[in-house]
Amino acid sequence: MTVCECMDVEFEEIKKAVAKAGDDLEAVQEETEAGTVCECCLESDCDKVDLPLPDAIKKAKEQG
Ligand code: FES
Repeated sequence: MTVCECMDVEFEEIKKAVAKAGDDLEAVQEETEAGTVCECCLESDCDKVDLPLPDAIKKAKEQG
């Protein structure tokens, strides 16, 4: 499941980043570089990706 197309970041990577750095958006961006190029995936309505970054972080947190 793609979270960031520009940096080719998958949900699995977000899960690892959240486990390591917490659910803070900027911390996850630092870990993965997701959302650092076109910034589309920072918006929940971005249609370039399967699961935009804020939603991916939320889901990763829910899954523990
Ligand atoms: S899709 Fe994430 S920065 Fe472009």
